[in-house]
Amino acid sequence: MPFVTFLPVEVTAEVAPGSSLLDAGEAAGIEMEAGCFNCSCGTCIVEIVRGAENLDPPSPDEVEVLDQWSRDPEKYRCACSARVRTGEIVIRQLD
Ligand code: FES
Repeated sequence: MPFVTFLPVEVTAEVAPGSSLLDAGEAAGIEMEAGCFNCSCGTCIVEIVRGAENLDPPSPDEVEVLDQWSRDPEKYRCACSARVRTGEIVIRQLD
């Protein structure tokens, strides 16, 4: 099973493949910022510290939201829509 580590608190949660990073946060007991839950507001954007290749690629909608917030899709993802595929992903919540 894939697992997601949250920085700076260094809490890790194991999640089923296909889970969103928001789902992983819930599994880890981490409170995460989110608004629309459908990849249009950008409040859930997180930094991908490691393991970006272990996430499904961003949808065109997600790329558009990241672009609106001037965030590089190679380094940032919307937690509500980024889906975990395999391995380890390390993320950092933005201030
Ligand atoms: S909660 Fe709005 S983009 Fe993720």
